[in-house]
Amino acid sequence: MCGIIGYSGDREGLEVLKYGLKAVEYRGYDSVGYYDGTLVKDVGKVDDFLKKVEKVNVPFIAHTRWATHGGVSPKNAHPHKVGKITVVHNGTIENYKELKEQLNHNWNSETDTEVIAALLDKYNEENFLETIKKVISMLKGTFALAIIRDGDPKIYFAKKDTPLLLGIGENESFIASDLIAFLPYTNKFIRLEDGDFGYVYKGTYWINNKREIKEFEGNVEAAFKGSYETFMLKEIHEQLDIVPQVFSVDLSEIRDIFKNNRIDIISAGTSYHAAWYLKYLTNYDVQPYVASEYPYLMRDPEWIFAISQSGETIDTIKAVKKAKEKGAKVISLTNYISSTLASLSDYVIPLNAGIEIGVAATKTFMAQLLFAHNLIEDRNIDEIKEAIKRGLEAPLFDIKREKVFFLGRAINYVLAMEGALKFKEITYIPAEAFPAGEMKHGPLSLFDDNTDVVFFLGPQGRDLAKVNLEEVEARGAHVHKVIFPDQYYTISATVFLQRLAHDHALKLGRDPDKPRNLAKSVTVE
Ligand code: G6P
Repeated sequence: MCGIIGYSGDREGLEVLKYGLKAVEYRGYDSVGYYDGTLVKDVGKVDDFLKKVEKVNVPFIAHTRWATHGGVSPKNAHPHKVGKITVVHNGTIENYKELKEQLNHNWNSETDTEVIAALLDKYNEENFLETIKKVISMLKGTFALAIIRDGDPKIYFAKKDTPLLLGIGENESFIASDLIAFLPYTNKFIRLEDGDFGYVYKGTYWINNKREIKEFEGNVEAAFKGSYETFMLKEIHEQLDIVPQVFSVDLSEIRDIFKNNRIDIISAGTSYHAAWYLKYLTNYDVQPYVASEYPYLMRDPEWIFAISQSGETIDTIKAVKKAKEKGAKVISLTNYISSTLASLSDYVIPLNAGIEIGVAATKTFMAQLLFAHNLIEDRNIDEIKEAIKRGLEAPLFDIKREKVFFLGRAINYVLAMEGALKFKEITYIPAEAFPAGEMKHGPLSLFDDNTDVVFFLGPQGRDLAKVNLEEVEARGAHVHKVIFPDQYYTISATVFLQRLAHDHALKLGRDPDKPRNLAKSVTVE
């Protein structure tokens, strides 16, 4: 995913650039760049990049990148300029290699985008709209494009399969991947549709198809959330969208390391549950540890694998540093490839979940689970999306009692742990997880008719789990079985347990996005 912002108007360019880039940063944040007559681009975070920018001319086009074709490097960062044409792009061009071969050109980058700039430059006609029409007909794939032609004051655009909007103000126009990038300046917008192309110039625009101007009513915060009541709910639904991008990460080198070594996994909170998922799912010789305990338990690890969506959790960072002192090599899985954790690692695997705002991890957890599937080359994207849909659509049950237990065996126990954590952290109701087979060794004394039990019954360990289920039912507890088809049961059930917690938190009037006493990224011990 990438973010686009372009501006034509009389405002100070720097102000619009700053706001717009920050607003679309969630769409990708490994590199940043803009073109305002001069090409300025680099790898790294938007904030660091902006510190170095003093003045921006108008019109400009700008971009935040999440690498797909070509690694994270300054030359692969957008915009891409060929001759008089500069382009920023969100999407992927499937036939870019063939197109590159057809053009006699010295390529500056490994991206699929540069070929678009080269084609537009090659066919650059007086009527540039004809050029765009011709070039986009040659592209196979997905694209949202913002284009500047030197000597021409307009910003051109084209759109297919990825979002692109126009913001139309008085004497000013915007092009952006998301409404939020221009909402402080104008609430009038046009949502472009597939096949649309055209240009904006100050307050004017031209589109090849007739499109209606709409007005957004609401505040910026609401725009960020879209039509969802909470960020958490939005992010639960976004799990459907992230599957291809999570699986796009090439794990061949990492897979070999996992196959041939004993690896300690270090993580906290939800990421710790992902570590156990990896252990139950695979045959690798891995051992999960809670990050804050790891320094006491560590022996002489050769390899450690740190899982942290933020890459900033102090417990995880400290444990990694201790292991490094002992000579361990570090692989990390994080949503922030320029995080502290990443900087400490020998290998960094991007989680590719997109930005997560809700404090309770949802889509980043899903991305961690999918990473485990990718690692064992279980990549049935369509089936996984179907499983997510089942989790999104399944009717929820009501939790009414004062105590809630989440139970399961084998990999279902991981679901139980995550289910209990999600539930307690956003509802503030005591919820605990136990391995179903462990009940008879103590916890069973807690069970009575003031107890709700959420029982995960996926295929792993199911036969014995059913025996445990009867033991619980016999104590008068109210048992809710989480039933889904076996195919990717864990994926459906994960979405379901998130919705269960979210729904219950709302019923109790809690704000699931900001649970009391908690923070998204915990940088204190
Ligand atoms: C905090 C958050 C949790 C998260 C944990 C680990 O406690 O509230 O949701 O799972 O940190 O975060 P990390 O960024 O390291 O995955």
